[in-house]
Amino acid sequence: MADAIQIRCLQTIGERELAGLSDVLIDCVEGGASVSFMLPMTRAKAETFWREVAAGVARGERIVVAAEDPDGTIVGTAQIILDQPENQPHRGDLAKMLVHRRARRRGVGALLLAAAERQAAEAGKTLLVLDTASDDAERLYERAGWQRCGVIPDYALWPGGGFCPTTYYFKFLRR
Ligand SMILES: CC(C)(COP(=O)(O)OP(=O)(O)OC[C@H]1O[C@@H](n2cnc3c(N)ncnc32)[C@H](O)[C@@H]1OP(=O)(O)O)[C@@H](O)C(=O)NCCC(=O)NCCS
Repeated sequence: MADAIQIRCLQTIGERELAGLSDVLIDCVEGGASVSFMLPMTRAKAETFWREVAAGVARGERIVVAAEDPDGTIVGTAQIILDQPENQPHRGDLAKMLVHRRARRRGVGALLLAAAERQAAEAGKTLLVLDTASDDAERLYERAGWQRCGVIPDYALWPGGGFCPTTYYFKFLRR
């Protein structure tokens, strides 16, 4: 499956990409991922989020990578937030690493992570930081050499309610 997946860095996010990225986000939240949204996860909430991301991409503040299957359907995505305070120009945040449930456990997440890291390095970043509430994601990041910092309890809510912890990670990039 991963062989047939194409990873693309989205320079612009048009209506087609917006619909595909929204499908992935909705599926992940409905699947229980704690990624900023609560249930019910509506298309309106997803599209509003991706339109703001698209504006950030246009301003050069974010990088968005997307995984597409052979017919061009977006099955996963990840972001690097480039825009940081002026005393942290070397740092980026890895965010919204999302793979549609039907495309998981085939290496798509690993491809997206590698592509996002590569794009961040090309943008001049030497340090990446992320936080996650997903055990699956923790294993993915640790396989890719990310260092675990620690857990903050009660950091956010699960989509259906109830506190969830988050775990912080960092990784230095070689240029
Ligand atoms: C975390 C997430 C992005 C991982 O995506 P993914 O595409 O399933 O990731 P991968 O396929 O690279 O790796 C997942 C597992 O499949 C395994 N795998 C990879 N390719 C495989 C293959 N061809 N055959 C069998 N297993 C495979 C990996 O070894 C890994 O195993 P593990 O669970 O024992 O660690 C996905 O689970 C997700 O979107 N979760 C919900 C959203 C979320 O919480 N995101 C994290 C926000 S920080």
